[in-house]
Amino acid sequence: MTDVKELLLSRIRDVADYPEPGVMFKDITPLLADPAAFTALTDALAEIAANTGATKIVGLEARGFILGAPVAVRAGIGFIPVRKAGKLPGATLSQAYDLEYGSAEIEVHAEDLSGQDRVLVVDDVLATGGTVEASLQLIRRAGAEVAGVAILMELGFLRGRERLEPALAGAPLETL
Ligand code: PRP
Repeated sequence: MTDVKELLLSRIRDVADYPEPGVMFKDITPLLADPAAFTALTDALAEIAANTGATKIVGLEARGFILGAPVAVRAGIGFIPVRKAGKLPGATLSQAYDLEYGSAEIEVHAEDLSGQDRVLVVDDVLATGGTVEASLQLIRRAGAEVAGVAILMELGFLRGRERLEPALAGAPLETL
């Protein structure tokens, strides 16, 4: 394991039975509170942004905002928030997706992305892949290209990577 990976793992706290019984929550607040770890994470994600030729970072609400914004600043490119429905004031594109029970909807400001953009999606956790999959649909519907997806941690047993394969259409999925 690399030193960076070890550092990041050591700053992620497992919280049992949160938010409901049987779920092991991955809490990244210790990582955010440690400047060495947060800097190492930002550097690693910014390297992916550079390698993929991204011109915009899309961060997924809410923790994708915290991780994605400094990456955009470090990479010298724009940050675009993809929000849960009803939070953005301008004209939006919306994408619904299925959850285990029920459904959810995410939105982006339509004017924030164009055919000139190559977009890197940043988030903290890849679980079932539903949120990232919906964000890739939004990006393409806005006319932009998907440069890749960069995620702090992947819960492999939920098979999000497999689910995302068609939607990625060859774009890289990097999990640290
Ligand atoms: C979590 C996580 C990802 C998403 C992953 O966010 O931060 O965005 O779930 O799940 P999936 O791969 O099964 O789609 P959550 O919906 O808890 O939102 P929050 O960050 O606003 O708490």
